[in-house]
Amino acid sequence: MEENLNIPDHVALILDGNGRWAKKRGLPRQMGHKKGCETLEQTVEDAARLGIRYLTVYGFSTENWKRPEEEVGALMGLFKQYLKDALEDLLNDDIKIRFLGDTSMFSADLQELIAETIETGKTRTGMVLNLAMNYGSRAEITRAAQNLAEQVKNGALQPSEITEQMLSDHMYTYGEPDPDLIIRPSGEYRLSNFLLWQSAYSELIFMDVLWPDFTTEDLEHCLDEYAMRNRRFGGV
Ligand code: IPE
Ligand code: IPE
Ligand code: MG
Repeated sequence: MEENLNIPDHVALILDGNGRWAKKRGLPRQMGHKKGCETLEQTVEDAARLGIRYLTVYGFSTENWKRPEEEVGALMGLFKQYLKDALEDLLNDDIKIRFLGDTSMFSADLQELIAETIETGKTRTGMVLNLAMNYGSRAEITRAAQNLAEQVKNGALQPSEITEQMLSDHMYTYGEPDPDLIIRPSGEYRLSNFLLWQSAYSELIFMDVLWPDFTTEDLEHCLDEYAMRNRRFGGV
C-alpha cells in the first residue's frame, strides 16, 4: 500500500457473497457465513490499524428475513457468537460498536447482548464499528420522516424548518460523517437498500471477490484506489 495516502474517515462494506463461496465448495450456505465472520474479524483489525475512524458493515438487511428459517437461524447464532467474541477481543483494541437498524426484532438474548455491547462501548474512544443488522435504508428514512412529522404535529417544528441536517440527525448514523467509501464485494453492482441517504457523495468500489475471500490486501487495494479518486462534490 502507498504510504501517507489519503485514508477515508468512514468506510462502509457490504458483506456479500458468503452463500456463493460455500456453494463453490459444496458446503451449506451457513459455512459461508461462518467464514465471512472470520473475514470480518480480520478486516476490523485491519481497518483500525490503517487509521479508518468509522467502519460500517452490512450484515443483515430488512429483506434478509425472507430467507429460509434455517439460514436466518444460523445467521442469528453467528451474530451472537460475534458479539460475545467482540466483547472480549475488541476490549484491547478500544473499538466502539454501534448498531444500525431495528434491533427490537431480534430475540431477547441477542438484544441483551446488544445492550451489553453498547454499554461496554460507552467509554471507548477508538474506531467506531457500525453493525448494520436488520438494517434497511428505506426503513431508516421512513423512521426519520415519522420522527420529524411527530415534532411537526406537536408544534415543535414547522415543515419549512426541516433541513437536510435534521434528516441526517434522525438516521441511525447520527453524529457520524457520511461514508467516504462504500465497498461491495461479490460481483453485484447495487446498493441493496444500504445507506441511500448517506451515500450521496460516497465513492463506490465494486469487486468480484466473494466476501469470505476478502483479504488485508484487498482492503489496502481499495484504499489505494480511493486515494486516486477526485471528489468534487458538485464543484469544479
Ligand atoms: C451475505 O452473503 C450475507 C447476508 C446477506 C446475510 P449472501 O448470503 O447474500 O451470499 P450470496 O450473495 O448468496 O452469495
Ligand atoms: C445485501 O446482500 C445485504 C447484506 C450483505 C447484508 P443481499 O445478498 O441480501 O443483496 P441482494 O439480494 O443480492 O441484492
Ligand atoms: Mg447476497
